[in-house]
Amino acid sequence: MPVQGFGVDIGGSGIKGCTVDLDAGRLIGERVRIETPDPSIPEKVYAVVAEIVTSFGWTEGIGVTFPGVMKHGVVYTAANVDKSWIGADIDAELARYIPGSVTSLNDADAAGLAEMRYGAGRDQRGVVLMLTFGTGIGSALFVDGHLVPNTEFGHIQVDGEDGERRASAGAREREELDWAEWAQRVDRYLDVLEGQLWPDLIIVGGGVSKKAHKWVPLLSTRTPIVPAQLQNDAGIVGAALAAHESSPE
Ligand code: BGC
Repeated sequence: MPVQGFGVDIGGSGIKGCTVDLDAGRLIGERVRIETPDPSIPEKVYAVVAEIVTSFGWTEGIGVTFPGVMKHGVVYTAANVDKSWIGADIDAELARYIPGSVTSLNDADAAGLAEMRYGAGRDQRGVVLMLTFGTGIGSALFVDGHLVPNTEFGHIQVDGEDGERRASAGAREREELDWAEWAQRVDRYLDVLEGQLWPDLIIVGGGVSKKAHKWVPLLSTRTPIVPAQLQNDAGIVGAALAAHESSPE
């Protein structure tokens, strides 16, 4: 029997959860996805998370991702979700809805942890930057395999604008950009970020990483860029891993 965990990925459009094989870094069976309630206020989202966890019969601790700055279970920012999340203590509040304990962390940090352990960042030393391109841009920074949490590089200023406003996958859809037009924006974004961090490797994740061949070859970045390997499951796997590693043996 592999070591098992449970991860839930809270996103702006969907909430996804599954049991995770922590030896292999894979989902066990089919994940469950439920639309994010509208408005996506904490109580409604907690109820959905509880529904997902219960549907698997899972009673132990779980890991949960959130798309904002997270410190010790508490939400500090909510760029693309309901502002009523700010100040919510996810670890304490969500634990009232489910049998086990809760360990929450930033969504990109979770995806990065999974990629570093099981995917494109495996055994990579030095400075590794994981970026997730979705509605916003999430970031996770690793130094010799150790996470520097909550880097929030999606919000660096690029030509006087919030980086993710111009270069997220959401911007590509909103403004109906073709791959070449969007790649130009990502290139400019990465140019600014690269000049500040000088990473050894950049891992690009999010839904658009499935189509990496359409835009990654168009980038002029000096740093090697590789697509994420766990793709849609990285958040769930990383959340389960974070919860497992934070729980007392
Ligand atoms: C948020 C980050 C999050 C990213 C991806 C950004 O707008 O500030 O915390 O990781 O979106 O969801």
